[in-house]
Amino acid sequence: MENTTPAKKQIVFSAIQPSGSITLGNYLGAVKNWVKMQDNPEYNCIYALADLHTITVRQDPAQFRKNIIDMYASIMACGIDVEKAPFFIQSHNPDHAVMAWILDCYTQFGELSRMTQFKDKSAKHADNINAGLFTYPSLMAGDILLYQADKVPVGSDQMQHLELTRDIANRFNGIYGNVFKIPEGFIPKDGARVMSLQNPTAKMSKSDENANSFILLSDDDNVIMKKFKRAITDSEAKVRYAEGKDGINNLMSIYSAVTGLSYEQIEHDFDGKGYGDFKTAVGEAVVAELSPIRKRYQEYVSDKKYIEECYTKSVEFVQRFSHRTVEKAMKKIGYILPKH
Ligand code: TYM
Repeated sequence: MENTTPAKKQIVFSAIQPSGSITLGNYLGAVKNWVKMQDNPEYNCIYALADLHTITVRQDPAQFRKNIIDMYASIMACGIDVEKAPFFIQSHNPDHAVMAWILDCYTQFGELSRMTQFKDKSAKHADNINAGLFTYPSLMAGDILLYQADKVPVGSDQMQHLELTRDIANRFNGIYGNVFKIPEGFIPKDGARVMSLQNPTAKMSKSDENANSFILLSDDDNVIMKKFKRAITDSEAKVRYAEGKDGINNLMSIYSAVTGLSYEQIEHDFDGKGYGDFKTAVGEAVVAELSPIRKRYQEYVSDKKYIEECYTKSVEFVQRFSHRTVEKAMKKIGYILPKH
């Protein structure tokens, strides 16, 4: 792997949960940026499949196993190349569990209680409000701090967790000196919060009951076109970005994230045209982006041996960095380490 001198470049870390297929929200909010950053010589990137986080919600073992492989193959299909950016499976590196425990002890009950994701998920899974669901943000903080990350490319829904990560790191550094780098979020200009196509005031999420509200990377071209054609808009029939036009704003933001066109250009191009034309254009642009990814996914997912090689060498590579941070933190706290 090329990136053997992480100290000289900015370190980028991010992760995604293996909770089924990737949505257009995951892709535009995070994974598209992961690929861009991996190809930028200013950065050393490390990415993970956050499978420890996923068991905060009960998983069927066979389905969970399948989701892990499917998601790993999907992310590779989006363009992640482990020769440039290691992409490992979180549960393969026990440093994450150790660091999570340490940081649990430097995170306050009140801080965790304020997390909106905890409130949302505990409302949704009222029969299983487990301790892991509550302490999830300190596991996530550990993921980031273990690699001394400078930048964390995420969608805006993860910003609250990132702020907490910074607070925990500052608190720890305040007690023990400079142990952790203080990371910054890295949010895309467009696509930071892709909204539901059926209820554009809510985030696009694969757990939505209405399958027309989200686009999955696994959706075929016809399904994608149908979902865009059914997207909720408004009665003004004018393509422009404005307050109160949540549906059109969302479509414009998706179109802009995929094509790189500015809102002014989009408004100009669709001046005098109806929403039907615009929805078709957005659908076609998304199909053009996702269809090659879907084809590559088929190739990766059928090559289990190659996937196995990729995640194995990735975890071997990243453990050097995470061990260093765990040992540094443990020594500062006062732990005695074995000789090696
Ligand atoms: P997860 O798996 O829910 O989502 C993965 C990434 O996708 C982004 N995202 C969105 N972006 C825009 N619009 C949307 N509708 C949308 N939905 C999801 C998320 O912001 C995220 O960037 N806790 C994290 C995983 C994680 C992590 C980390 C992330 C674990 N450890 C360390 C960064 C750093 C999560 O559940 O993301």
